[in-house]
Amino acid sequence: MSSHAVTTRTQTYRAIVERGILRRTAEFIPPRTGKVFVLTTSDVWEFHGAKLAGRFPHVVLFHPGGEPNKRLSVIEDLAEQMAAAGADRSSLVIAFGGGIVNDGGGFLAAIFMRGIPVIQIPTTLLAQVDAAVGGKTGVNLVSGKNLIGAFHQPLAVLIDPDVLATLPEREYRAGLFEIVKAGIIRSPELFELMANRSHDVLARQPGVVDRIIDESVKIKAEVVTADERESDLRKILNFGHTIGHALEAETKYERFLHGEAVCFGMEAAVRLAQLTGMLGAADAERMIHTFRLYGPIPSLDGIEAGNLFGRLVKDKKTIQGTVHFVLPDRIGNVKVVTGIADAIVLEAIGMALG
Ligand SMILES: NC(=O)c1ccc[n+]([C@@H]2O[C@H](COP(=O)([O-])OP(=O)(O)OC[C@H]3O[C@@H](n4cnc5c(N)ncnc54)[C@H](O)[C@@H]3O)[C@@H](O)[C@H]2O)c1
Ligand SMILES: [Zn+2]
Repeated sequence: MSSHAVTTRTQTYRAIVERGILRRTAEFIPPRTGKVFVLTTSDVWEFHGAKLAGRFPHVVLFHPGGEPNKRLSVIEDLAEQMAAAGADRSSLVIAFGGGIVNDGGGFLAAIFMRGIPVIQIPTTLLAQVDAAVGGKTGVNLVSGKNLIGAFHQPLAVLIDPDVLATLPEREYRAGLFEIVKAGIIRSPELFELMANRSHDVLARQPGVVDRIIDESVKIKAEVVTADERESDLRKILNFGHTIGHALEAETKYERFLHGEAVCFGMEAAVRLAQLTGMLGAADAERMIHTFRLYGPIPSLDGIEAGNLFGRLVKDKKTIQGTVHFVLPDRIGNVKVVTGIADAIVLEAIGMALG
């Protein structure tokens, strides 16, 4: 077992990585807690619900799942169900599922009666290494992803790698790209593990899986602790995300999983770093080679560099029309860069499109 402290303005909590911790969930429910609501999806509940059921009293709430259902109307409906079941200020939400359930459950807890506690139990690789730690919660608008939300830090994040046994291959690989990202932004050791042990990683060999999750959670916990509200340091977590988000939006969130779009975004960012002269060719090729180990991602056919470029300026992270890029200058370190000429950005996107 390993445990990482996340300290924010308001509290300190732990993100714990431990096989079997799901069965110990009750230990993390504070004394004098009222009704406990477990928010999950039907697939996760069927696979893993038995590890929670019967261990402490709770009401199960089902989220329909899927990015198109990551909506305020779904959260309102869940809040009505809670109220009808007698929820009050002493209630607790346990978000038990992938990133959509973690973001939605956290948001539900943030706004129910102006805020009740939440425990995050992420069940996808992506949610374990990224979404569940850090207190960012929310839902999508038709106008864009995650445009409504709140910062709401959990009481604890319980990460049980055992649940990954049932995760579909494609979802698993999508999460691996976020781990490669964590290595590139802050940990050469993690990057080397991903670059050299891909066979074991893809075979979900427990020793290596536990190590890569642990190291990624450690990085996320450190970065969030240093900068809860994404003023500066937390921006480095967006490596690959500026252009990745543009790709997701351009393909209406249908063709690529988030992690796959981030893979593309990282490749474009690596090319951009190379074109601006801040990154050497050897490091660039090594990064791109490593992305390929965990691919392929769906086809990029029909996607125009110009359309992706047009979307960059609309990104939520764009501040007053200035696009910020997070670019590596070596493996394990990134810098936030602005003011890159449009033509160079277009060229980098074109190179990643192939
Ligand atoms: N808050 C943050 O900081 C943050 C960071 C990254 C991503 N996100 C958000 O996370 C979301 C994506 O999360 P995701 O990739 O986990 O997708 P997801 O929540 O849609 O889960 C993917 C699929 O896997 C299923 N599933 C979950 N756990 C399973 C298991 N153990 N076995 C079998 N199936 C399982 C889910 O029901 C779903 O069908 C996006 O909406 C993104 O915006 C948030
Ligand atoms: Zn991401």
